[in-house]
Amino acid sequence: VITTSRLVLRGWEDRDRVPFAAMGRDPLVMATLGPLLPRGESDAAIDRQRDFQARLGHCFWAIERAEDAAFLGFCGLKPGAGGTPIEHEIEIGWRLARQYWGQGYAREAAEASLRWGFTSLGVPRIMAITTPGNDRSWGLMERIGMTRRHDLDFDHPILAAGDPLRAHITYEAVAR
Ligand SMILES: CC(C)(COP(=O)(O)OP(=O)(O)OC[C@H]1O[C@@H](n2cnc3c(N)ncnc32)[C@H](O)[C@@H]1OP(=O)(O)O)[C@@H](O)C(=O)NCCC(=O)NCCS
Repeated sequence: VITTSRLVLRGWEDRDRVPFAAMGRDPLVMATLGPLLPRGESDAAIDRQRDFQARLGHCFWAIERAEDAAFLGFCGLKPGAGGTPIEHEIEIGWRLARQYWGQGYAREAAEASLRWGFTSLGVPRIMAITTPGNDRSWGLMERIGMTRRHDLDFDHPILAAGDPLRAHITYEAVAR
């Protein structure tokens, strides 16, 4: 469990399944991520994060607001996906429900996740990926001091040729 002034980053609970499924059905949240997620797929995504937590001691954690325990979304650290330029690196990632954007919550969770990663995992760098059109996400990468790695631009292997979300860009945070 990681606490910040306004947030708690924690492992996933079954009570997160309904609000997380609602995020997966929100076209604005999913606009640059791919198709809307049926309940079975959002549940499977939670189960994958629980598996990372059990095996590795970290994952894309659930974000809870400290003052009222509201489920805001997720942020945290997982292994970079196979077949991408960050395959052997730690990846930071985030997704918040629409009503919680624009309040600095993602930034607060991301800064805490980076601190935790550099302190607890001892890695020299932490990577992030997104699509060129996801300015909210790469804007956050820049706000938290990450640097664009133009040399690591890539086409995501899980997406078909011609998919408009296939092109990806990569950012790097280095331990300070
Ligand atoms: C990407 C995402 C997490 C960014 O969330 P966000 O709320 O915009 O990011 P931040 O936490 O940095 O908040 C920044 C905004 O909060 C405002 N803000 C308000 N109070 C603040 C505070 N106390 N501290 C910092 N910023 C604050 C900032 O001014 C800024 O506003 P703006 O969007 O009008 O410029 C969110 O848009 C999202 O979930 N998108 C969909 C999923 C997604 O694309 N995930 C990434 C896939 S690669």
